[in-house]
Amino acid sequence: MAKTPLGTLILTSDFLFLFIVYTFSLATAKSHHFSRTLSPTNLGLKKEKLSHLHFYFHDIVSGRNPSAIKVVLPPNNASSTGFGMVAMIDDPLTVKPESSKLVGRAQGIYASASQSEDGLLMVMNFAFMEGKYNGSGLSVLGRNVVLLTVREMPIIGGSGLFRFARGYVQARTHNYNPKTGMLLWSMMLKGHRPTAMGIAKAAIANSSVGFGMMMIADEPLTLKPHRSSKLVGRAQGIYASASQSEFDFLMVLSLTFMEGKYNGSSLSVLGRNPIVSGEREMPIVGGTVVFKFGGGYVKAKTYEYDNKTLNAVVEYNVCVLHH
Ligand SMILES: *[C@@H]1O[C@H](CO)[C@@H](O)[C@H](O)[C@H]1NC(C)=O
Ligand SMILES: *[C@@H]1O[C@H](CO)[C@@H](O)[C@H](O)[C@H]1NC(C)=O
Ligand SMILES: *[C@@H]1O[C@H](CO)[C@@H](O)[C@H](O)[C@H]1NC(C)=O
Ligand SMILES: *[C@@H]1O[C@H](CO)[C@@H](O)[C@H](O)[C@H]1NC(C)=O
Ligand SMILES: *[C@@H]1O[C@H](CO)[C@@H](O)[C@H](O)[C@H]1NC(C)=O
Repeated sequence: MAKTPLGTLILTSDFLFLFIVYTFSLATAKSHHFSRTLSPTNLGLKKEKLSHLHFYFHDIVSGRNPSAIKVVLPPNNASSTGFGMVAMIDDPLTVKPESSKLVGRAQGIYASASQSEDGLLMVMNFAFMEGKYNGSGLSVLGRNVVLLTVREMPIIGGSGLFRFARGYVQARTHNYNPKTGMLLWSMMLKGHRPTAMGIAKAAIANSSVGFGMMMIADEPLTLKPHRSSKLVGRAQGIYASASQSEFDFLMVLSLTFMEGKYNGSSLSVLGRNPIVSGEREMPIVGGTVVFKFGGGYVKAKTYEYDNKTLNAVVEYNVCVLHH
């Protein structure tokens, strides 16, 4: 059995949110206002708590009881990184490395979103079962380069005791059995390499806007519009056509930078991208390394679009608040 990484996780969370929900439902019971302003100080929202959780994450990809199952095979067999593979996971989280007390489960998907290394886009929830954390959860969206010693992924939210949480996860591989591992590494790649390719589509594929179509992307981020200009990072992740009436994509991306002091830091983006609109805005939901606890937004504007090849150059303006 391949039991892979360990997660060490540091997060901040706030404990005073029952009040918000309560007040909110009172308000909605009395009136039919869609929204109103609440005073954070009255609710004691200033106090933040910093917690550290530590557990082992078991990603079992083979054997009789795998906890990770491939749901999409890579569209191109020639890809050494399995670019385009998507797996659904329900991985046990335990206190000790070997089978020991279960403290929660990691549920979600990971997808191979790099054409050149074993880089996974992780979109998952940690559902805890232990003590006061039973029933509380944390959401993680980030990039996991499985061969690195330490990988960092942003915590982008939480529920229960972890409402309003933000923070980061650090994962270190404790034990990796490459025979049953799911990724291979090889140096040669040949042929034309598109940076995005379709991995799934709707069962009834008659939508004029491709509703249901899912793409996997590993796209260069450059300083200037031309592809050969200086590479400053990569955008890796999934986008999916999520509107039945217009070209409107759900974007689940990790932007990883390679430039100067930002080298190795990343930002996670989760948002809506109506690609035919002039300017689109998507939230930054977390970050790693220099962008730890980061938040903000990106603005995207199409710079160039070729309606024959469908290739596009999009200008991104990133605004991020971090420590
Ligand atoms: C990939 O390889 C498998 C097994 O070798 C083969 O059955 C399948 O048709 C190939 N798929 C593509 C897209 O080439
Ligand atoms: C966690 O909560 C569930 C539902 O409330 C309960 O059934 C279960 O026994 C609890 N588990 C632990 C370990 O406290
Ligand atoms: C797509 O097919 C479904 C079922 O066959 C049909 O109900 C629907 O109207 C079709 N939509 C379009 C845009 O053609
Ligand atoms: C970024 O960091 C990697 C790994 O530490 C290093 O190999 C690479 O040369 C760095 N790139 C730049 C542009 O500094
Ligand atoms: C592609 O763009 C050209 C020039 O803007 C336009 O004339 C043509 O109709 C477009 N083709 C499609 C299929 O949209």
